[in-house]
Parts: sequence; structure tokens; C-alpha cells
Amino acid sequence: MQIIDGKATAATIKAEIKAEVESMTANGAKRPHLAAILVGHDGGSLTYVKNKVLACEACGFKSTLIHLEDNTTEEELLQHVDRLNQDPDVDGFIVQLPLPSHISEQKVIEAIDYRKDVDGFHPVNVGRMAIGLPCFISATPKGIMELLRRYEVPTSGKKCVVLGRSNIVGRPMAQLMMQKEYGDSTVTVCHSHSANLREECQQADIIIAAIGRPGFVTADMVKPGATIIDVGTTRVPDVSRKQGFRLCGDVDFEHVSPLCTAITPVPGGVGPMTICMLMQNTLAAAKHTYYPG
Ligand code: GUN
Repeated sequence: MQIIDGKATAATIKAEIKAEVESMTANGAKRPHLAAILVGHDGGSLTYVKNKVLACEACGFKSTLIHLEDNTTEEELLQHVDRLNQDPDVDGFIVQLPLPSHISEQKVIEAIDYRKDVDGFHPVNVGRMAIGLPCFISATPKGIMELLRRYEVPTSGKKCVVLGRSNIVGRPMAQLMMQKEYGDSTVTVCHSHSANLREECQQADIIIAAIGRPGFVTADMVKPGATIIDVGTTRVPDVSRKQGFRLCGDVDFEHVSPLCTAITPVPGGVGPMTICMLMQNTLAAAKHTYYPG
């Protein structure tokens, strides 16, 4: 059984990005610039955004954090989005989700200039991804594809079960695994209302678990030799930890891992890759890789 080390892979990729940035700037280009808008004080979101700023430093990017109060109105937030859309120094930006319930996430996502949408959440990027056109691909599915590629996990013609159908992970993950240029797999998407979910998983060569239920994937659901990708990051209270919680994946790692060919741990698997792919998207935005400047 092989542990797929997302932390080490992410460190390698960040070093590759930094080297490219240093060579770009030495040739007179400006540093890539990522901005992030965070609304409110949710602990998880705060940590994610702080880690994104740290990753910018590691990659040699400029970063700007716009931290707004919980009671920010939708109109005020849309004004910030518009300012970043117009700012020629900002190559890409994200609005950290979830947003407070009085703000429409969809409205905000659609207000972002798709050419700066390094999260890949805008319908233009989602649509282009679905038909295989160049675009920003959302970071978690992109990071998983990169792990599968770098660890040479065979995907072509394999049976892949995606657990979860969220816009951020499950849906785009299924699209990429299905596409000829990416996974080229036979994909089944299972969700909270799927019948025979256990039997579907038992058939899978690859399971990608993104349902946010700690320990959901148990040993009896896994075919011996399968590859397991765990996207779960539920915070479970744990008084023995300094922060008062630990991160729990969607997979019962202890009992599933002995059965697998390869598996991602939580933490240290998919998580570090997500931020790293956001950096890759920001570099692509700065270079106008997908959309001409
Ligand atoms: N919340 C959870 N994951 C993400 C992400 O990838 N991007 C943004 N903007 N918000 C998130």
C-alpha cells in the first residue's frame, strides 16, 4: 500500500512555481498577484485564507487580503468584486465560501470576471471545463488529478466512483475523471440518495470520497487493490489537540488502507494540493494562459 503524499507533492510544485516566477520577474514581468476576499470570522475559512496568503509568499506572489465584517451587504461585496475586476495589478482573486446567508453566493460568483476567476467557479469556467476547453479548473479536483498523474495511478478505462455532487468537488471531479484528456474513466456519481451505494463502491478501482461524513467509507465498501482519494476535512472536537479539534477524512483510514494499492491521508493528502493548484491557476492568470490579455 502506498501513501499518496500531498504535502510533499505540493511542496515540490510550489518550488517549481517559485522558480518560474523568479525567472519571469528576472525577465521584467511583474509578480503574479492573488487577492482574496473573506467575509466574517468563520474559523475554517480564516485558516484557509491565511494558508493561501502563506502559499503566495512561498511562490513569490504578491497577495492582498480583504477582510470584511459579517454584516457586509451584498452590494458592498459586489463593489469589492468590481474593484478587483478593474484592478490591472490583480491577476486573479477569490471570494472565500461559504458566505453569510444574506449574500447570494451565485450572484457574487457570477460577478467575478471569469478571466480572473482562479477558483474556476464562474459558469464560463465551469462550462468550458465540462466541454474540455482551456479554462481555470477548480483547485480541489485539479489537485486530485495532479496526484493521480504524479503517482501514476492508472485511470483510463477504470471504474471510478465519486461520492458527493457538490459544485466545488463532486461534479467537476466526475467531469474530469470522465474526460478522455484527463481520467478517461467510467464514472459513477453517488450521493446521499443513491441506492446500493456500498455495492457501487465495491466495484470501483478508484473511489473519490467528498461527502463530508467522517469515516463514511469502510473496509467492506472497498475492493482490494483500489485507490482511495479522501477529500473529507471535517473538524471533530478533540481536547488532546492544541486547537481543540482534529481533521477527519471521509474514509476509515485504519481499516481501509491495508486493502488499498494507494490512499491519500487526512491531513496531508488532498488538502495541501488544493492551495497549490490555486497558485498554479494564479500563475496561469498572470501569464494569460487560458484567456488572452
Ligand atoms: N471554500 C471551501 N473551498 C473553497 C475554495 O476552493 N475556494 C473558495 N473560494 N472557497 C472555498
